[in-house]
Amino acid sequence: MQQDFVYIRDFAQHVGNVVTLKGWLYNKRSSKGLHFLILRDGTGLAQCVVAEQEVGAEAWLAAENATQESSLSLTGLVRKDERQIGGYELVVQNATLIQQSEGYPITPKEHGIEFLMDQRHLWLRSQRPWATMRLRNNIIMSIHHFFQEQGFVQMDAPIFTGNAVEGTSTLFEVDYFEDKAYLTQSGQLYGEAMAMALGKIYTFGPTFRAEKSKTRRHLTEFWMIEPEMAFYDLAMDMDLAEGLLRRILRDAMTKCKSELEILGRDLSLLEKADADFPRIHYSDAVELLKSNKSLEMLDRELEVAYDQEKTLRAELAEIKKNYGSAKKWEKKKFDAREIEINQLIEDCAERQRNLPKWKTSAMAFEWGNDLGGSDETVLTKHFDTPIMVHRYPAAVKAFYMKRDPEDDRLALGVDVLAPEGYGEIIGGGERATDLQFLLDQIRAHGLPESAFTWYLDLRRFGSVPHSGFGLGLERTVCWVGGLKHVREAIPFPRLMSRLSP
Ligand code: 4AD
Ligand code: MG
Repeated sequence: MQQDFVYIRDFAQHVGNVVTLKGWLYNKRSSKGLHFLILRDGTGLAQCVVAEQEVGAEAWLAAENATQESSLSLTGLVRKDERQIGGYELVVQNATLIQQSEGYPITPKEHGIEFLMDQRHLWLRSQRPWATMRLRNNIIMSIHHFFQEQGFVQMDAPIFTGNAVEGTSTLFEVDYFEDKAYLTQSGQLYGEAMAMALGKIYTFGPTFRAEKSKTRRHLTEFWMIEPEMAFYDLAMDMDLAEGLLRRILRDAMTKCKSELEILGRDLSLLEKADADFPRIHYSDAVELLKSNKSLEMLDRELEVAYDQEKTLRAELAEIKKNYGSAKKWEKKKFDAREIEINQLIEDCAERQRNLPKWKTSAMAFEWGNDLGGSDETVLTKHFDTPIMVHRYPAAVKAFYMKRDPEDDRLALGVDVLAPEGYGEIIGGGERATDLQFLLDQIRAHGLPESAFTWYLDLRRFGSVPHSGFGLGLERTVCWVGGLKHVREAIPFPRLMSRLSP
């Protein structure tokens, strides 16, 4: 392949050479006879210096006319310069404007999240989404490496299906010729068939939930990784889940340092998360949730939220007092800090609203209930690592779960809950193997038996113990990247209230 340009990411190999960069103008600073262009080429950012004295008239004009997100081709000498973004600089000799952009809607000033989401097709070019997508890519590669190195076979489950997996209330129905079909909620049932054929498999595909939830954890379309293993019991399943998550963490910390820095992620929290995951029986989790230790922790956090707000408001007042007499550069700094403070105050207000609700919910929790999002948050606040809550009441779990031989009320399921309030990122467990038991469960859950004939064949022809789980990709990206909402963890999020862009 003949390529007449290089990438910013490869600058180290080109120091002292004249190369061509192709990209988009991210930012520009100018002074007499000089333009400092920050170019973005998808792989990184680089400062490119255009000096009127050194370049031809046409090149100077191109730099002069380059507006935010104009596309450009720049040729120049690569120079090492520690002070510059990325550590290198291009001393431009020639510049061509490929297309001049006009009125780019996203400016360096602060925009609201809904506005940015409306502009998602453009917002992806900004630093935070850029770093998030690179982190997502890294996590995807860690997952493939982890499974491939252990001999798992990646297989694909269909997206159009005839049956529900995770309850009938969250199915998207589509017309399928004369018939009805559903968009898959999970590839698991097909995964089980594939594991009986190939031993250890994993699927990696889009899944759909018509969930009427408007939380920071819910998408209507998300990507799930679902390993399924013949002859694995629940304990082996948990070992695998822990191994996978710790691999993801370690890879992110070593390979995505600069991305995590752009995201402002506190790396010490990720380091602490890479330790043995406690395995907690559902009954013990309920006890911890309702304990004084939990309630006192919530009270303490509420106090902190009020104190923080007070301190922030005092700082805001101080800024307002000094603003009039401030110099221009100081005003800029004040403006930026004010935006930051307002954001932090909003966070405090949110905590002040949530914490009392969480406390009420924890106190009212009864053995047998499913753990809600806030209960998960409270539980995980006690730990630095993810926790694995196992053996939930069968009544709140899916039809395919194996019962605990020691307590028939419980299912051999496990949820992995991420720390810092991120909550459930994995759901899985050991599968029921008995034909009659499954038939009874399908009936009890009001599921159409005919849709499961093929699935039940797996119990007719060489039924064996087996287990698996599903990892939500966006929730994992959210946690590792320290993001606020799953919508930032996928290029084009699909939410109850968003189908565009
Ligand atoms: O816990 P869930 O519903 O489990 C299953 O679907 C199993 N059949 C998986 C299996 O055992 N093979 O979903 C698994 C994970 C959740 O833990 C969560 O990370 C993610 O999928 N998830 C969602 N992510 C974003 N938006 C939603 N609406 C999600 N629902 C589930
Ligand atoms: Mg679940």
